[in-house]
Amino acid sequence: MTHVQFEYTSHRLEGEVVVPGDKSISHRSIIFGSISHGITKVTNFLDGEDCLRTIDAFREMGVQIEKEESSVLVYGNGLEELKKPEKPLNFGNSGTTTRLMLGLLSGLPFETSIFGDASLTKRPMERVVTPLRKMGAAIRGEADGNYLPITIQGGELQGITYRLPVKSAQVKSAVLLAGLLAEGETVVQEDTETRNHTEVMLQAFGADLKQNEDGIVVTNKGKLTACDVEVPGDISSAAFFLVAGAIVPGSAVTLKNVGLNASRTGILDVMKRMGAALTVSNERTTGGEKIGDLTIQYTALKGTTIEGDVIPRLIDEIPILALLATQAEGKTVIKDAEELKVKETDRIEAVCQNLQVLGANITPTEDGMIIEGPMKLTGGTISSYMDHRIAMMGVIAALVSENPVKMDEKESINISYPTFFDDLEAILR
Ligand code: S3P
Repeated sequence: MTHVQFEYTSHRLEGEVVVPGDKSISHRSIIFGSISHGITKVTNFLDGEDCLRTIDAFREMGVQIEKEESSVLVYGNGLEELKKPEKPLNFGNSGTTTRLMLGLLSGLPFETSIFGDASLTKRPMERVVTPLRKMGAAIRGEADGNYLPITIQGGELQGITYRLPVKSAQVKSAVLLAGLLAEGETVVQEDTETRNHTEVMLQAFGADLKQNEDGIVVTNKGKLTACDVEVPGDISSAAFFLVAGAIVPGSAVTLKNVGLNASRTGILDVMKRMGAALTVSNERTTGGEKIGDLTIQYTALKGTTIEGDVIPRLIDEIPILALLATQAEGKTVIKDAEELKVKETDRIEAVCQNLQVLGANITPTEDGMIIEGPMKLTGGTISSYMDHRIAMMGVIAALVSENPVKMDEKESINISYPTFFDDLEAILR
């Protein structure tokens, strides 16, 4: 197998990066634009493969969507006008598309089949299928509908009250989307707050959604009206340069217009606790979402414990935080993160395996990992596991490795950050 080699010795990072649009918000802008009435203009849309799957799905259902780089126009005609797709929908690598669309398709009056790539086919869908069936959805698929390919015979749905058994914004969003099509009230309750972009955006589009002591309550009574969306920069993408700036000696990097929704900023809290020289400036709000600029400077860091309620607020950042911990003084313990096992790959295994190869002292546990630092990384040959966030972690590791890092591929990075290497090159000094 041919490997790609990354070698960045004796560099530091300096300058500004405008990271691309948030993946979660980009998906939702297409979904809500497509089911509302009028033209939704989306700016700073993430032009990554996952979000393009969501655009393709609605085009297949008859929605006109015009896209020019990161500007998208969605010509919504309402839920009623969505048409049965002529062929099965291919959701590629995108868990968000799959889980959210399962909710919507459950209430539409036609049958749809969906499938995905090898990674998506291994990811559990029971977490969304169970509440949707309680609402009356007819879903069939592999292992009683736990795995793709899945066929959904849409029909009438009844509102339910559902307490999330997994801390998942995708499950919450699937139930809320089905709730837009259900008779009566649908109530979602969560013990730990997960990202709330669905709630924020649905309210902006005019849905009948409120949050009260019962939970998040939605009905089919609101009229969804087109609403322009300015997508904030993705903090999950910014995370790679935040960590790079924190661990490469002499670095000073500013990340512009990054989404700072409190349900996503766990990484900032943890990095500050570890002693990072991190500042937030230019804070403002757009479309109900907070954004701002983040500046990071290299400084010595200390280990910490990452557990409990912060986990859903940084779940996608754990691979890169594990790398950060290898460069921090002392022990870092990551707990309560068993969800990592069902991401694009088993990220506990992928992170530990790769960082061990690179010379780190890291041990996997049932629900996370334990890292002892600081360790000078040696370099070596790793695998991306075809997972975008594992691949980017490997590249950033090369910045602090004595010898090159070789990896089996880098194309998976296009899932969430197609301009990753351009942005990195632009700040290498
Ligand atoms: C997402 C929610 C998270 C996250 C994923 C995107 C979303 O997944 O890991 O990258 O857009 O709702 P879970 O809901 O499975 O935790």
